Amino acid sequence: MNRSFDADRHLLDLAGMSRERMELLLGRADHFARGGAVPRALDGVAVCNLFFEPSTRTRLSFQLAAQRLGAHVLGFDVSSSSASKGETDLDTLRTLEAMGVRGFVVRHREDGAVRALAGRAGADTVLVNAGDGRSAHPTQGLLDMLTLRQAKGPDLARLKVLVVGDVRHSRVARTDLDGLRTLGVEDIRVCAPAELLPEPEVLAGCEVVPGLDDAIRGVDVVMLLRLQRERMVEGLVRSLDGYHREYGLDARRLALAAPGAVVMHPGPVNRGVEVTDEVADGPHSLILRQVANGVAVRIAVLEALLGGPQAPHGVA
Ligand code: NCD
Repeated sequence: MNRSFDADRHLLDLAGMSRERMELLLGRADHFARGGAVPRALDGVAVCNLFFEPSTRTRLSFQLAAQRLGAHVLGFDVSSSSASKGETDLDTLRTLEAMGVRGFVVRHREDGAVRALAGRAGADTVLVNAGDGRSAHPTQGLLDMLTLRQAKGPDLARLKVLVVGDVRHSRVARTDLDGLRTLGVEDIRVCAPAELLPEPEVLAGCEVVPGLDDAIRGVDVVMLLRLQRERMVEGLVRSLDGYHREYGLDARRLALAAPGAVVMHPGPVNRGVEVTDEVADGPHSLILRQVANGVAVRIAVLEALLGGPQAPHGVA
């Protein structure tokens, strides 16, 4: 088994993942999402959720996924651990490795922090990036692609997809755009206030459409993003009401999209800011389907990375 540092041993990003590997993971996740039996592929394997940033759905769905595969799951609460006494991330990782923990699901405030840890990890250790800074959130990207395929069929190439909101601070947007491009989506529109647009490389292949009423016309999918106020320079968005008026999704605007259009949001939702209650809880919303698919995707990822060579699509 190749256990050197390579792209397939860990899951750090969707950029650079082949379409074939993505499709295999999505296929396996779809099987679990439809109630397919979950093998005890991680029986006896210890997995730690190392979250240096808050999380509800990502942390708990990784926990559930690892438990369903039979793993021993350790939670790590920064505030009650020695990290709060200044222990470095690397010492924390090495301490847990010394206890025999093999899998680490890591969320971190800093861009590149998970990749840096992966570069220093032991030869048998596997890291999964559960979101680093504004850079990447690969399992969110996979669960969003799975949700889209379930709603719209496996061939996404013809879809018109609109990404709305705080793209600049969003690791979800960066990762979703990587996923959409890898799966062949050609019509990708982005709509955001100028100050929330990212660096141009992120928008490769996308059309930036300034007004939401124009951008949403005829689209099949609206992917909303949370205003990431914790990552913003103070005052970047002056008024939440103003943001809602210009970029919030309500029923009137949704009616401009294609018939049967679907609405996605990674959560947590700022209700009344990115989206109205009526739309978030309405028949076009896939928000809770995304959450459900999160568990299935994380089972597929942990199985592939930690389930040994017998796991379907594992790193043989
Ligand atoms: C996202 C995250 O943390 O990147 N949440 C999530 O994992 N579902 C998006 C967000 O916080 O806005």
